[in-house]
Amino acid sequence: MHTLDGHWLTDNDGISPLSVMGAEERSERRDFIPYTDKPIRWHTDGYYNTLEHTIRGLMLHCVQSAASGGDNQLLDHEIAYILLRDLNPEHIRALSAPAVMTIPARLDEGGIARAEQTGPVFSVDGQGFLHMRFTERKKNITWRQDAATQAALAALGRILATPTPWTLHGRLEPGMGLVCNNVLHDRSGFTETPDKRRLLYRARYYERVSPLES
Ligand SMILES: [Fe+2]
Repeated sequence: MHTLDGHWLTDNDGISPLSVMGAEERSERRDFIPYTDKPIRWHTDGYYNTLEHTIRGLMLHCVQSAASGGDNQLLDHEIAYILLRDLNPEHIRALSAPAVMTIPARLDEGGIARAEQTGPVFSVDGQGFLHMRFTERKKNITWRQDAATQAALAALGRILATPTPWTLHGRLEPGMGLVCNNVLHDRSGFTETPDKRRLLYRARYYERVSPLES
């Protein structure tokens, strides 16, 4: 992984400090759930990015964990795909449609800050690797309303709602990190105390994690 995604809320080195934003800090971050103590539903990172900015690799580093909470669940999106396909291959077909999911444009005082993004949930890149673009959030997202899409989303929701034998659950503690191919993940809400304020650094890359040299 070597090309960092330049995100408008990152510090200028392209790495995002994830922490709860106080009133005195960069106010635009406070409008976004990652910079609060609230839970975050299942998603892959950068689901609102353009195709050229697809996030294939993700790295987290924990500087400080919260007083309580802030756990993650992880599920490899390839396994989610297999479970969904085993239920009904039509679910895969529906979620691979090019216009199945639309993220509305984000507006600010200057007009359109980010254009509307439409794309598939599942796609396969030129090297045959599966990519998943997904969020379980209900706001600021529009799904195709046809029966096949709705059935596929309901089935995927059921898979994610119940831990599978492949679902990992844990909490990053100081010095721990996560390196992954932008797999599905969520985050529980958390509480902080003055000396236990959660701080994670996040880096998003356009490349997957390279296979280990043999
Ligand atoms: Fe995330």
